[in-house]
Amino acid sequence: MHGKKIILAITGSIAAYKAAHLVRLFVKKGAEVQVLMTPAATEFITPLTLSTLSKRPVFTQVISEQEWNSHVELGLWADALVVAPATANSLAKLANGICDSIVSAVYLSARCPVFLAPAMDLDMWKHPATQANVQRLQGYGNHLLPVGYGELASGLVGEGRMAEPEAIVAYLEDFFLQKQDFKGKNVLVTAGPTYEAIDPVRFIGNRSSGKMGLAIAEQFAARGASVTLVLGPSRLKAQHPGINTLKVESAQQMYEAALQHFGQADIAVLSAAVADYRPAHVAEQKIKKKGDSMTIELEKTPDIAASLGKMKRAGQFIVGFALETNDELQNASEKLTKKNFDFIVLNSLQDAGAGFNFDTNKVTILHRNNIRKDFELKTKAEVAKDIVDEVAIFMVEKG
Ligand code: PMT
Repeated sequence: MHGKKIILAITGSIAAYKAAHLVRLFVKKGAEVQVLMTPAATEFITPLTLSTLSKRPVFTQVISEQEWNSHVELGLWADALVVAPATANSLAKLANGICDSIVSAVYLSARCPVFLAPAMDLDMWKHPATQANVQRLQGYGNHLLPVGYGELASGLVGEGRMAEPEAIVAYLEDFFLQKQDFKGKNVLVTAGPTYEAIDPVRFIGNRSSGKMGLAIAEQFAARGASVTLVLGPSRLKAQHPGINTLKVESAQQMYEAALQHFGQADIAVLSAAVADYRPAHVAEQKIKKKGDSMTIELEKTPDIAASLGKMKRAGQFIVGFALETNDELQNASEKLTKKNFDFIVLNSLQDAGAGFNFDTNKVTILHRNNIRKDFELKTKAEVAKDIVDEVAIFMVEKG
């Protein structure tokens, strides 16, 4: 953080009292801090406290009695803009470009990364309007600091607490330290389930949420890669601007999109849960209920992984996944060789908290030379980091 120029924008929440501690932590780490406050924030903590701690005047308006506080200059000066606490109201304004305070004026002018630390009551946080604003802000490439769970100012217990100042500083430190070791690399990631149509209303699918693949795509993009994410039906959206998402539905569509982009890819990570079989005939009209049973004939889908494995050129890397329920190591090891992966990530449904839809996963990485690395149960974001770190080591070894 040493020498970093941070704008801390404080909006009107009771969590504003934590901003004093946040300024101290930034200053102790050697950062220069410029505090901005909305008028509502000044009701919770005084500008005098914050200017004393930051050793700079605090700006509460674009035009103050004495001078014009240039939001454009401030926006260009900063290495990071941190909005903490970010109220529901301020998130709504930022998401919609409503420029009625020094905070929103600087936000709109800033060219630096923006970090939002929301703080509000649990029902306000859960409200679809707030969630839509947050998604929109993330879609613009802003970073969201996860809200905490606990007792809120209302006395209710739930999600909505502002991230602790120590966590905010740690997040920014990680951000500034982030290696750009995949800059210039093209990465292809498949993620999510596939849906295989039976008729216009029914399909054969699976329980994949897309979380694991998205976390991998985000990790590569954060480390400088250009990522093409081929995503099956999932309600999730990639946030990083370095990710180009191609939405597909069926195994056939995923196969076509993956093949089209594999030629330019340096690395492919195949985390999608692709249907192995699909209905041989898709009914044009909704199938009517008739007898006590019915049979659907299934045919094989294209194996994306095996096809890319055959096409793989020298210098291209393929990371495969194996989702197993039994004989895990043996099955994974067979897939590793059969599909010509460089390494395979095994997750087993036998492990609590691993596999479909969880926010966590527990994986083992198997290499072709039988080297095996077992990892603890971790968040999918941490698992993604382990996998990307493994690719980085592998690339260095292979030159
Ligand atoms: O999406 P989440 O809810 O976060 O869940 C993550 C996950 C459990 C889906 C993920 O971690 C995972 O294990 N993905 C692979 C699931 C799978 O289908 O595994 P498999 O063992 O059946 O397939 C082996 C490999 O071949 C995989 O890399 C798969 O993407 C690929 N494959 C399989 C069939 C096919 N027709 N084409 C393929 O490319």
